[in-house]
Amino acid sequence: MKSTSDLRNMKADGTKISMLTAYDYPSAKLAEEAGIDVILVGDSLGMVVLGYDSTVPVTIDDMIHHSKAVKRGASNTFVITDMPFMTYHLSVEETLKSAAKLVQEGGAHAVKVEGGGKVINKITSLTEAGIPVMAHLGLTPQTVNVLGGYKVQGKTAEAAKMLIEEAKKCEEAGAFAIVLECIPRQIAKEVSENLSIPTIGIGAGSDTDGQVLVYHDLISYGVERVPKFVKKYNDVNEITLSSIKTYIHEVKEGQFPQQEHSFTMKEEELSSLYG
Ligand code: KIV
Ligand code: NA
Repeated sequence: MKSTSDLRNMKADGTKISMLTAYDYPSAKLAEEAGIDVILVGDSLGMVVLGYDSTVPVTIDDMIHHSKAVKRGASNTFVITDMPFMTYHLSVEETLKSAAKLVQEGGAHAVKVEGGGKVINKITSLTEAGIPVMAHLGLTPQTVNVLGGYKVQGKTAEAAKMLIEEAKKCEEAGAFAIVLECIPRQIAKEVSENLSIPTIGIGAGSDTDGQVLVYHDLISYGVERVPKFVKKYNDVNEITLSSIKTYIHEVKEGQFPQQEHSFTMKEEELSSLYG
């Protein structure tokens, strides 16, 4: 299992870090079996698994529930759990209590928080309490209503300057890594070169120290439209739909089940039953 220092060493060596979200037992099991470096129990589960239209409705109990399932599927992989909306803003105390639940009940090795600004002092408090923190800058989906939609961030010189500064502050506050979401690749490169902690990009080009994708996007499972930065490695929608349609057809036509799917009683038992 990777540790936070392994991840830092990977950056130093120039070894790219692979991260993928997982939300339940099978997705975690497959991600681990495939050899993923880090699993993120992302609050994107609100959208791709629970069907909400943003990550805002996701609760701490949702995150605990899914983290536990992920841990059962991937007991040998470093697991980071997202702190959901409004569980790390009110106070340091509230933040520590929320994170402690994700670690103690959910089994997370680390947590992720969105944003710079007032969140930065929470990163220090969590780290001092022994909970490693991954930061998340750029497009931060929990603040989608403030950002005015899911849009590329840091596009102007001024916004980029602020992002570069905030990334540095996250590192100074103790973050062990940082997600950069949906920002120009040149800015992601600049941030990555400026920091000694690894950057994990999503829609941030190829010069970050690692990449992350949402599980359901990567295999196209249950999602209809995916953002430009997603590469669809397979089409599970197609496989699933055609499997279910064939099943329905075979049930209706009496083609399923066949004898090979059935249990047969010995003839002598049958005759004594009816005999
Ligand atoms: O919730 C999530 O899946 C995330 C990643 C996209 C970084 O935060
Ligand atoms: Na998230």
